[in-house]
Amino acid sequence: MTAASRSPKDFFRPLAVGAPTPLREIPARPSRAIHFFDPSNPKMAAKVPDMIGTVDVLLGNLEDAIKADNKVAAREGLVEIATSTANLGGRSGPTQLWTRINSLDSPWALDDLTTLVPAIGDKLDVIMVPKVQGAEDIHYVDRLLAQLEAKAGLDKPILVHAILETARGVANVEEICGASPRMQGLSLGPADLAADRRMKTTRVGGGHPGYLVREDPPRLGGVANLEASRATYQQDLWHYTIARMVDACAMHGIYPYYGPFGDIADTTACEDQFRNAFLLGCVGTWSLHPKQVAIANRVFSPSVEDVAHARRVVAAMGDGTGAVMLDGKMEDDASLKQCLVMVELAEQLAA
Ligand code: GLV
Ligand code: MG
Repeated sequence: MTAASRSPKDFFRPLAVGAPTPLREIPARPSRAIHFFDPSNPKMAAKVPDMIGTVDVLLGNLEDAIKADNKVAAREGLVEIATSTANLGGRSGPTQLWTRINSLDSPWALDDLTTLVPAIGDKLDVIMVPKVQGAEDIHYVDRLLAQLEAKAGLDKPILVHAILETARGVANVEEICGASPRMQGLSLGPADLAADRRMKTTRVGGGHPGYLVREDPPRLGGVANLEASRATYQQDLWHYTIARMVDACAMHGIYPYYGPFGDIADTTACEDQFRNAFLLGCVGTWSLHPKQVAIANRVFSPSVEDVAHARRVVAAMGDGTGAVMLDGKMEDDASLKQCLVMVELAEQLAA
């Protein structure tokens, strides 16, 4: 077997010491942008058919940002959109259909599930569950879905995606990821998480100008000149949580995602935040506005240059063992595995 004919999964056999956990048999469908819409808003709902094929996931939001008085209308609107829109959801077609139900401690979550599964369970690919605190929340949704699916005669299980947005959820992230074979992935919920952690921010995702490091003062004759101007570098508030989330997802073979970026006008900072997440291992993000879809589709696809380089390494590595020099750099089994991740993603997106 040559390296070119090996997929990353071939490296994931138990005998490969230290190899990453394989992705479970989750349908490997691209989900670079999960575009949120309010199904109770007729203007937004009317745009849904035109977005099919332009975005990997359309998500009918029932939770935060939907007023309490509109919860029933949003649920009913989602049923109407799912039943009347061709090529949306149902594990085929270009655009998946997801929903974000209300949190399990709200008065609406049970009605969300008992209404949606019988009505549109065959079209719903993934149910996003907010404010997940531990495995018990996933077990509850899992059992309820099993009953509702059996009653509705559905033959494909609806997958579950958890939002990591409480301190307790972060502490329990590994058990959440492994709580059910339905688990598809995790998203970061920076706004709720900031509040739960009592962070002193007032934003939905992104950085903060006060969270920075300053370069050392220049020294003259061994004395620090504290009056000199010094560069500061803004730091990423979300680095720790995203890295933790990525590890937990990788350990359980499910997909990690960044979450919302609330400053719609600042497309540059949005792109930076998305790219950091992509480089750290996330496969996608949320989109709160159509212009964020374009950013996510670009950022969460490997660049042509990266894929071309990855393919050169794969070709140069022959049977996939040993080491070669390419452009003055050493490549070996481990860099080959990284390159195969990139090639596999490019092939998935091109399929
Ligand atoms: C998303 O739900 C968030 O709280 O950031
Ligand atoms: Mg939230």
